[in-house]
Amino acid sequence: MNTPLSPEATQRTLPARYYTDEAVLEAERRLLLDSWQLAGHAAQLPAPGDLLTTEVGGQDIVLVHGHDGAIRAFFNVCPHRGHRLVAEDGNRRVLTCPYHAWSFGLDGTLRGMRRTRTTEAPARAAIGLAEIRLDRLAGFLFVNLSGQAPALAEHAPGLEAQIRAHVPGLAAMVPEDGPALGHSYRCEANWKVLLDNYLECHHCGPAHRSFDDLMRISGSRFALFPNHTFQVAPTAMKADNAAFPLDLEHDVTVGHFWWLFPNTVLGQFPGVPGFYASRLDPVTPDRTERRTLSLIVAEPTDAGMMERHRARSDWSVNVVSREDRSLCESVQRGMRSMGFERGWYVTDPEAHGLSEHAMRHFHSRYLDAIARYAEA
Ligand code: FES
Ligand SMILES: [Fe+2]
Repeated sequence: MNTPLSPEATQRTLPARYYTDEAVLEAERRLLLDSWQLAGHAAQLPAPGDLLTTEVGGQDIVLVHGHDGAIRAFFNVCPHRGHRLVAEDGNRRVLTCPYHAWSFGLDGTLRGMRRTRTTEAPARAAIGLAEIRLDRLAGFLFVNLSGQAPALAEHAPGLEAQIRAHVPGLAAMVPEDGPALGHSYRCEANWKVLLDNYLECHHCGPAHRSFDDLMRISGSRFALFPNHTFQVAPTAMKADNAAFPLDLEHDVTVGHFWWLFPNTVLGQFPGVPGFYASRLDPVTPDRTERRTLSLIVAEPTDAGMMERHRARSDWSVNVVSREDRSLCESVQRGMRSMGFERGWYVTDPEAHGLSEHAMRHFHSRYLDAIARYAEA
């Protein structure tokens, strides 16, 4: 981050092999293990005893709301012989393994292990669930599988305050129905291609006709921080636009979008007040799974809100996401073209609606981090 960019780095994007190479992905998997990964939202397990099962980095995990009020994360595996400990979400007083019925407290300590007085068995105190480091950001729960990441407040100082300041209704929003990490979107492109696309609006005019009509792209501003970026994106304040109906009285008319190093994006889209957080999971060098947890206001703002919400969801799924997916998949094919080695950045300190400096910032931060994980 503190290394000044070389003249070439200021103009040329990541070499194409970073988007196609298995060895790069292996290094990235180690980087992801060491970083904070979105796992859920505190409002998904509001009461003591509530459990939420999910998967992070290919690992089954379970989030547990303890009797002491703390939310903890554990690997969802029984220390006895490795059976999956918790089969489904719900509310329990203890966690009992279906295999041999060993049971564990909500704090992960062993409670019962089926033994007689003469059974030879290890001491209870030596056996417990493997806990995973957990931290929170604006209500969202993040886990760090290796336990090596600095606290989120240290990783991205000021980010939570920034989110809360620009999304004042966030605390009163609730997760939309669905599985732990909401809906999933698969794209046949490298995860960094998706992020590159997220971090610039150079493409918004030419490639998103309806989005361009909804927004005032020229008014977009990006602010860069060591491990996050913040984009403020005003709409054109048009109730009737080519994307979805906007209620200028009740809806959000300025979008706020964040990226958090390495693979989280979150923000508030214009329209009905809500908030989203997504994790971009690399599946292969050419495939990404984007898992999104969406929040919405608990109480409708007005009688037409749900209808506008549906209209925006339809547009989001069927129009803008499709457009972005097709752009990213085309770029991914380009990454394997013999005629392409690396691209060019366009940056402009004045015109953030055209500039790719936030994407360049991501690349710079990424290269700095990945160097530590690359094979010597
Ligand atoms: S594997 Fe869980 S009790 Fe045996
Ligand atoms: Fe886009």
